[in-house]
Amino acid sequence: MADIQTATAHPAMQDPPVIYRADYQPPDWRVETVALEFDLDLSAAEVHATLALVRNGAHDRPVRLDCDGPLPQTLDLDGQPVNWRSEGHGIAFDVPTDRATVTLTTRIAPDTNTQLMGLFASNGMLCTQCEAEGFRRIIPFIDRPDNMAVYEVLLRADKRRFPVLLSNGALVESGDLEDGRHYARWHDPHPKPSYLFALVAGDLMATRDSFTTKSGQTVDLAIFVRAGDEGRTAHAMQALKASMAWDERVYGLEYDLPVFNIVAVSDFNMGAMENKGLNIFNSRYILADPDTATDYDYDAIEGVVAHEYFHNWSGNRVTCRDWFQLSLKEGFTVYRDQCFSADMGSEAVKRIEDVRMLRASQFPEDAGPLAHPIRPDSYMEISNFYTSTVYNKGAEVIRMMATMAGPERFRAGCDLYFRRHDGEAATCEDFVRAMEEGASLDLTQFRRWYEQAGTPQVQARLEHDAATGTATLHLRQNFAATPGQPVKPLMPIPLRTALIDRDMKAHRGETLVMLTEAEQSLQFEGYARAPVLSINRGFSAPVNLDVARASGDLAFLVRHDDDPFARYEALQQLVIDRLIADIAALDGPGGAEDHAVSLDEIIAVFGDLVSDQRIDDSMRAEILSLPTEAFLGEQMLVVRPEAIHAARRALRKAIGLRLLDPWRIVHERASAVPYSLSREARGARKVKSLALGYIASAEASDAAAIAFDQFARADNMTDRQGALAILASMQADERETALDSFYNRYQGNALVIDKWFSLQTGSAHPRVHEQMLELIRHKDFTLTNPNRVRALYWPFVSNQAVFHEASGRGYELLTDLVLKLDPLNPQTTARFIAPLGRWRRFDEARAGMMRGCLERILAQPGLSKDVTEQVVKSLE
Ligand code: PHE
Ligand code: ZN
Repeated sequence: MADIQTATAHPAMQDPPVIYRADYQPPDWRVETVALEFDLDLSAAEVHATLALVRNGAHDRPVRLDCDGPLPQTLDLDGQPVNWRSEGHGIAFDVPTDRATVTLTTRIAPDTNTQLMGLFASNGMLCTQCEAEGFRRIIPFIDRPDNMAVYEVLLRADKRRFPVLLSNGALVESGDLEDGRHYARWHDPHPKPSYLFALVAGDLMATRDSFTTKSGQTVDLAIFVRAGDEGRTAHAMQALKASMAWDERVYGLEYDLPVFNIVAVSDFNMGAMENKGLNIFNSRYILADPDTATDYDYDAIEGVVAHEYFHNWSGNRVTCRDWFQLSLKEGFTVYRDQCFSADMGSEAVKRIEDVRMLRASQFPEDAGPLAHPIRPDSYMEISNFYTSTVYNKGAEVIRMMATMAGPERFRAGCDLYFRRHDGEAATCEDFVRAMEEGASLDLTQFRRWYEQAGTPQVQARLEHDAATGTATLHLRQNFAATPGQPVKPLMPIPLRTALIDRDMKAHRGETLVMLTEAEQSLQFEGYARAPVLSINRGFSAPVNLDVARASGDLAFLVRHDDDPFARYEALQQLVIDRLIADIAALDGPGGAEDHAVSLDEIIAVFGDLVSDQRIDDSMRAEILSLPTEAFLGEQMLVVRPEAIHAARRALRKAIGLRLLDPWRIVHERASAVPYSLSREARGARKVKSLALGYIASAEASDAAAIAFDQFARADNMTDRQGALAILASMQADERETALDSFYNRYQGNALVIDKWFSLQTGSAHPRVHEQMLELIRHKDFTLTNPNRVRALYWPFVSNQAVFHEASGRGYELLTDLVLKLDPLNPQTTARFIAPLGRWRRFDEARAGMMRGCLERILAQPGLSKDVTEQVVKSLE
């Protein structure tokens, strides 16, 4: 079993060292105020900093400043030059007094900063990214989140090339200087950690609006983008105003500055960043219009804009004491943005999407070598912990508390948390304690959700005694070992449960069952006939559930459960059981007994749902989508990529063929709905491409023609991309024609060209690998833009049958990427290790090749600590 000890034992892991949560110490010194002056240009930026230092507690230790990049050119203490010394990853010097003013200067070359951390250039503009430890790449600093200071920032630059100069807080003054330069002075009154500092300089266009808070303060809103993109900001602005109103209404939280600025940049490692009063976004989460963005993109923009806005309270006003507490702000903020999106659209569909995401990325992470608790105990590189576990499982943990407390008491817990910790750098424990007191919950056992990695396994069985009319629910919980955690204590698992009467086709009310023991049984009286068990409704707990249930009961739930998530879940389970049985049957007869529901029954259920009036189109499309190949792989002990691909393809074909007429009807009905952003129109677009997909899977002779027609006639990106995704998997002349026309139409629009790359490498076309090789050499492919790298490679590594091709050439291609990208951008590179780290789930031949690739990476001299950490853990 891998543990922390063996993790430190590997030579590659000794320097730099592993950092432990248990080692937390408050800072020896604090910075109370920061005055920064920047003389900005793309190739050289000069920084002059004045820091007011205060000794923290009675001790005689020196001042230590973290430093990663420019060493100070000058450093004065109260006006006198200081002899500082290098110490580890920083500098140190002695200070005789309890308070002192440090002035220092550094010089940076933004246009060579390919890591995109610190101050960097992107498309002729300058911007910063400081979370988690980027500020130390600008100046040496006490760069930790519990060091909160008030910032004043003076920016100077050439006025013609950088007409817009932005930083946190509000503009104090601005004006012209000599030689065509100008300046702007910004002040942020709220003390903040350095990771929330930001500046932007560039030639940008602003879309402006305003918002009046509930207490009557006017906030000037602006979204800054490159010239030419200003017609694509309306949706983001709308989302921002809706978020501001929602946080007031649902959490009672108001915005606290007179300005809120957003800037879109095209080179960005992550989605977006919540810098105080100056959010910086990956342009893909800002720019949208019907011609270039899909409905899915619109939703993602709304969600990310809300997420960053909500951080103003859950993250900025109350920040994290140290980076082990990351989920304090991220899990909570994801939960908040999920609830916001549910309120803006469909709660049921949002929940299904979020659970699908969780299962697709977090469950595998939690079952593999990189598994960690939502509050990790150690790390080597904090950038590696911006994970689906910290974010999405973190959100599930908050959601469970909300479920247990109910809305009013949950709100009371949040109120207490914000009131008690406003202006502080807090811990996850602080949140739990506020929730315990404010919501009157006992969370003693619940704290284990912060400590334990791994997805709990829950078994459920309903027993019925006709003589007494008693239904007994038997529950049991189990845990698999995860790295460093071989045995696990029991967890409290909240399971929303209902027993559905077979005759009434309804239940008598839902119960929240708390599973706290290894095994538990609950009795329900008054059931003459055995009811059908509906459990973990709404996915109330992030667990793997194994319910002993007849396939007929699943079909009953698909038709009659009143919880939309449970209906979805029941149909997914039916399909998974069928496919797993089909995969076993590929080995020939005599395999395991086939208890799965028949193909006829699946087709019958699908047939009902295609035209079921009780569900809207958006839900219909959700429910009638088959589980992905990767998800099916997760259900197997040893993943069999070819067998999964073949079985799933055959099922799709059968569903397509036998329901061909209904699919055609749906496609025609939905095609008649004109474009708008209404829920009905969006639902229609979703089922339209779903139906088209099944028509194509049926290999109908006119499928390519119908797809091309949808593509060519589309007046919006959702329909155009939906059709092109289907064409991209077909072997038809229309495929090439459509791909070329799409490329030519959108040449120069990076975000749409990203789609063009992704559609090809994520397709089910037999020659994806060869296409991949061509695209790597395409003139529009570049390693310096993270969006483009992800657009090309992520769909490829997620394309299970292609990436895991038996030859192993998929693994080699990814390894080549890692070795080329790591010297440029370690943070983005490290995210590509996990797919190779899943080697334990594959047969010996594949596992050997995958390990070989990891070893080839580790042998690379000068490998970043980001990649080293992930590779070493993956090999253990
Ligand atoms: N804090 C950002 C968010 O979740 C994510 C982020 C992390 C962005 C690190 C950049 C760098 O909203
Ligand atoms: Zn966040």
